[in-house]
Amino acid sequence: MNRRNLTLISEYNSPRNMRLVDDKTITKRLALEAGIPAPGLYGLVHNTRDCSRVDHFIDRQVGAVIKPAKGSQGQGILVITEHYEANWRKANGQCVYADDLNYHTINVVSGLFSLGGQPDKAMVEERVQFTDHFNDIAVKGVPDIRVIVLKGVPIAAMLRLPTSESDGKANLHRGGVGAGVDLCTGKTYGAMHHGLRIKEHPDTKNTLDGVAIPHWETILEMSARAYDITQLGYLGVDIVLDKERGPLLLELNARPGISIQVANGKGLLSRIQHIESLNTEGLSADKRAFLGQMVNRSEGH
Ligand SMILES: Nc1ncnc2c1ncn2[C@@H]1O[C@H](COP(=O)(O)OP(=O)(O)O)[C@@H](O)[C@H]1O
Ligand SMILES: [Mg+2]
Repeated sequence: MNRRNLTLISEYNSPRNMRLVDDKTITKRLALEAGIPAPGLYGLVHNTRDCSRVDHFIDRQVGAVIKPAKGSQGQGILVITEHYEANWRKANGQCVYADDLNYHTINVVSGLFSLGGQPDKAMVEERVQFTDHFNDIAVKGVPDIRVIVLKGVPIAAMLRLPTSESDGKANLHRGGVGAGVDLCTGKTYGAMHHGLRIKEHPDTKNTLDGVAIPHWETILEMSARAYDITQLGYLGVDIVLDKERGPLLLELNARPGISIQVANGKGLLSRIQHIESLNTEGLSADKRAFLGQMVNRSEGH
């Protein structure tokens, strides 16, 4: 599957279309133009001169997230939760001083966290207020839902949960937990942490089985629509659930990893072959979302 993953990327994703998602500000613009909800953009810092003013963009009550426009794997993402005694506070409760904020933003703009180390922009993004739904199994941060979409058809999904180790981020590389999701029911079954299968959240010890994800049909349809706005035939779609706004598109990945297989406890190859054998041309996003569920059912999960 490792080899197949690479060929899927080169077969289905043209370099030109990949550029649309390698910069999160472009993805956000495309999503908003198509009416797909996404976290708001409070501001952008383009050069190191302006980094000391980054705090002007941060909401004092609800904070914000500072992230590299061309970042990946949760690197360089600073989740600020509130203003606190002339300074700021992070998702894990630690204090962030004005100097830390400035220094972090300089690192982002100079490209420390970006693909290829090129100079970048620092995005100051609305901090998603996560639904209480997963309080028992998400620790100090925002879980996200990763959906793999082939030819516009969702083929697999996992719920990624932050842990005390992952510092407010849900990325598996940072120590987050990945739980497989049944596309038909939108419920989790089993999970993995650092590549090993687990049954309970490592911090809270609550079960990771049978957790229902709210707005599941909307999440699948949004994922299918991500194909329409990018024409990327093989995509990883990251969605977060906001308390008030519901599902929001966080980012798109043109080179999705295959750890989702481990979270799901089974390979993706047969589902991929199944979708490849079908003519999906001209199907609307909701029909493709439904098709994904049917294929998932016939392949077992
Ligand atoms: N606006 C936000 N509000 C709250 N948490 C966020 C926000 N943006 C990112 N995060 C946290 O950081 C993780 C990674 O963010 P993402 O935008 O997908 O960047 P990356 O490309 O590095 O994976 C998310 O899964 C989430 O846990
Ligand atoms: Mg991501």
